[in-house]
Amino acid sequence: MNTMRRPIIAGNWKMNKSNFEAIDLVTLLKRDLNDVNDVDIVVCPPFTALSDVKDVLTDSNIMLGAQNLYWEDAGAFTGEISASMLKEVGAQFVIIGHSERRQYFAETNDSVNKRIKAALKWNLTPIVCVGENLHERENNRTFDVVRDHCEGAFDGFSEEEIEKIIIAYEPVWAIGTGKTATPQQAQEVHRFIRELLMRMYNEELARDIRIQYGGSVKPENITELMAQPDIDGALVGGASLSHESFVKIVKNACAIRT
Ligand code: PGA
Repeated sequence: MNTMRRPIIAGNWKMNKSNFEAIDLVTLLKRDLNDVNDVDIVVCPPFTALSDVKDVLTDSNIMLGAQNLYWEDAGAFTGEISASMLKEVGAQFVIIGHSERRQYFAETNDSVNKRIKAALKWNLTPIVCVGENLHERENNRTFDVVRDHCEGAFDGFSEEEIEKIIIAYEPVWAIGTGKTATPQQAQEVHRFIRELLMRMYNEELARDIRIQYGGSVKPENITELMAQPDIDGALVGGASLSHESFVKIVKNACAIRT
């Protein structure tokens, strides 16, 4: 972790939690995390719970994110949700290009790129996911895949636009499997992304952009991950569904900063 960049821990609840469960969870998080000042905290509930969760989060240090958006502002796109709709319910962040979206919903670099554009237009901070699957890692293609995801996602954006983005490196083989990348494996890819951004943009941008790690992050491994110089936080799936483990992750991330 670099002390210049403010750490950010985000919970990706995926397709979990009814509205009642979401309100319960976030009420406990608000109570137990209200003294945290050193770390940005974000929760990303399903669309249906955004509005109720936002109400609970009033006057708290926890911010709201969504898990996806569609790039058009409005129109005949049955089943989709636009950036302006997310903005209206109080979202400040949006996860874009999660590997589950690529795997199950045919998202591509091109659709990720359009979604980032829409998010930025509506002043939502995109959390852009990149990362290789097991087959790609075993075939030594990790850097190629991460480069391809970054180049595709960021194609056509100005430096001012890219500065507003958060990147989440999420090796697909570590998501929901209990197999975390070792801190060294994660650090190696985070460093690679920073060097890539240096070549694509400039040194300052590469130094300042925040890169989260995601994939089986737990209270037990967050400290070691955050100790790496290029890891600025975590995108947490399974362990963000329980109030105890998410609170511990945030607190452990704070502890290493102080
Ligand atoms: P996980 O998910 O923490 O359950 O592995 C992370 C993610 O998919 O963002």
